[in-house]
Amino acid sequence: MENALHVENLAKSYKRSMRHPGLLGAFKGLFSSKTQEFQAVKGISFSINRGERVGLIGENGAGKSTTLKMLTGIIAPTSGKLEVLGLLPWKQRRELALNIGVVFGQRPQLLWDIPVRETFRLLKAMYRIPSDVYEVTYKEAVRRLDLEPLLGTPVRLLSLGQRMRCDLAASLLHAPAIAFLDEPTIGLDLTVKEQVREYIRDMQDKFGVTLLITTHDLKDITEVCDRLLLLDKGTLLFDGSLKAFEKKFANESRIVADLERPATASALRKLSAEMKKHGGIVTGGEGHKLIVSYRKEGSAPVLTQILLKRQKVADLTLEKTDIETIVTRIYRKKPGKN
Ligand SMILES: Nc1ncnc2c1ncn2[C@@H]1O[C@H](COP(=O)(O)OP(=O)(O)O)[C@@H](O)[C@H]1O
Ligand SMILES: [Mg+2]
Repeated sequence: MENALHVENLAKSYKRSMRHPGLLGAFKGLFSSKTQEFQAVKGISFSINRGERVGLIGENGAGKSTTLKMLTGIIAPTSGKLEVLGLLPWKQRRELALNIGVVFGQRPQLLWDIPVRETFRLLKAMYRIPSDVYEVTYKEAVRRLDLEPLLGTPVRLLSLGQRMRCDLAASLLHAPAIAFLDEPTIGLDLTVKEQVREYIRDMQDKFGVTLLITTHDLKDITEVCDRLLLLDKGTLLFDGSLKAFEKKFANESRIVADLERPATASALRKLSAEMKKHGGIVTGGEGHKLIVSYRKEGSAPVLTQILLKRQKVADLTLEKTDIETIVTRIYRKKPGKN
């Protein structure tokens, strides 16, 4: 399969002015020109083939936007190799722009005073989009993203959600080889999010658009991606399929039981000991709720049997840590103190 992009040991440091604590520090800050290097991306390597659909996830401040900015040529890397469609993004930005689509959801790019329809026509001219391509992409965008009622309104006057839809449409009008979408569904309501996903999927089906998307929304990942990159404080922690991701991180399952009556201390001790032999860890049981967690696949039957033999159980459910649980956990962490 043909390579769409390739990065090797890609790193980006930002210079930050040093802060002195306190009021005096604030004054000092005005005069001192001391700066400190901060490594936002710490030497990551990966390749993406044409037609792949890749989700880039990681908690706030992990370096997702920085990575996308380097890939799209908005900023130059501090070190490392970087190639997108055979081009060096920060040096050949214009050439690259003709072949990629870019959306930064936190900062929509279309802010023009002219109506949406005119904006799109201008883009057609600027990008020299062939009429047969434009015919399809324009129609598809209007239909999928429900843009008809907006076409006569100046972009500047649209709501954030409306502007986002137009931004996305605009970024894909030229049916680019790669779409870089940074939080394209942020702040949108559920039905619009669904429209956006359908539109992205559609553009992939019709034009084979390669996708690199960052998102906080699990559905964006499960519904449009087949591969995941997980960034953690500037380091690539995982690169692989959704299935592999689940396998690597979702390694704990639980049997959650509702006991008819709380277990006695000695019964709990015996139960724990026997469960332990089969890889089960018992928690609770002093009240009505008892949990057996385990990591080895296929342990549920034997662990359940032991439990049913030793305790009267009113109800019982099996829980798997699925991709949703993991991703929620990643984003539930507090935003980085940056
Ligand atoms: N222009 C900048 N100057 C200094 N620090 C920056 C700049 N842009 C981003 N950062 C810092 O780099 C880190 C990564 O930011 P970013 O790539 O935006 O993360 P993400 O998109 O994953 O939330 C954060 O700690 C952020 O504060
Ligand atoms: Mg970001």
